[in-house]
Amino acid sequence: MSKNVSSDGRYTHGHPASTLASHATRSAASSAAYLLPLLRRGMRLLDVGCGPGTITLDLAEAVAPGQVVGIEPVETPLSASRAAASERGDAITQFEVADVMDLPYDDDSFDVVHAHQVLQHLTDPVGALREMRRVCRPGGWIAARDADYAAMSWHPDVPELSEWRALYRAVARANGAEPDAARRLRSWALAAELPEPRVSGSLWVYSDEATCRWWGESQADRYAGEVFAAQAAEQGASADDLARIAQGWRRWGSTPDATFLMPHGELLVQLPG
Ligand SMILES: C[S@@+](CC[C@H](N)C(=O)[O-])C[C@H]1O[C@@H](n2cnc3c(N)ncnc32)[C@H](O)[C@@H]1O
Repeated sequence: MSKNVSSDGRYTHGHPASTLASHATRSAASSAAYLLPLLRRGMRLLDVGCGPGTITLDLAEAVAPGQVVGIEPVETPLSASRAAASERGDAITQFEVADVMDLPYDDDSFDVVHAHQVLQHLTDPVGALREMRRVCRPGGWIAARDADYAAMSWHPDVPELSEWRALYRAVARANGAEPDAARRLRSWALAAELPEPRVSGSLWVYSDEATCRWWGESQADRYAGEVFAAQAAEQGASADDLARIAQGWRRWGSTPDATFLMPHGELLVQLPG
């Protein structure tokens, strides 16, 4: 199994340092604010596709002393998650290798089953939601937040960023995934026969010099890196194309009045009690 493959297919970003570092800047406040008001002390929570675990560990603080489990289909990101847990003095949260398509947990074993930016990477998001439901107890919550690449927007209009978006969406779709996931969350939930799905939305907004510089550099490193390059080559993108796109990201990130908007959909389902 290569480092970015699960039973469900290839995970487009893989787990290079540039991607893990970017994911590790996330918090429950930035990425799961729609879920936080529902959390109660003592709840047992599963975080599917937890990556480097910063969101997971915030959720663990919110439900402490409840047990939180973060899962990833491969070991690679979990060393970062475990290191983050020990830095915070969290000896309770567990990080385990497991695949959302075939969870190694009994039926009804969690109060909350959460996934942040995971469904958008799967070939079978409906099957994933069914499996998330199986392990969620009656009365419990299923929560998923996903981005929508076609709806992302930015200023200034750097043409290489449009090239990046077209290439990313082609690569993700070649992997069988759906990059414009936010708008499909309700449809996926209905197909998975989840009761009364509610969808809300929120934006990540990058709009100050330091944040835009960081995002531009981070995106440049990620998309010029070997994990993406190999998949982009299958879509006909050359090393020159990727170098140009990376330069475009850096140019955008160093523009003093830059802004990047990333919309997300947020799915919440409460199972009948
Ligand atoms: C964009 S990252 C999000 C990581 C984390 N939730 C966050 O927001 O920082 C998507 C994660 O889903 C994981 N993933 C991909 N396929 C999966 C599967 N079949 N089961 C569980 N996780 C999966 C990837 O390995 C990756 O870490």
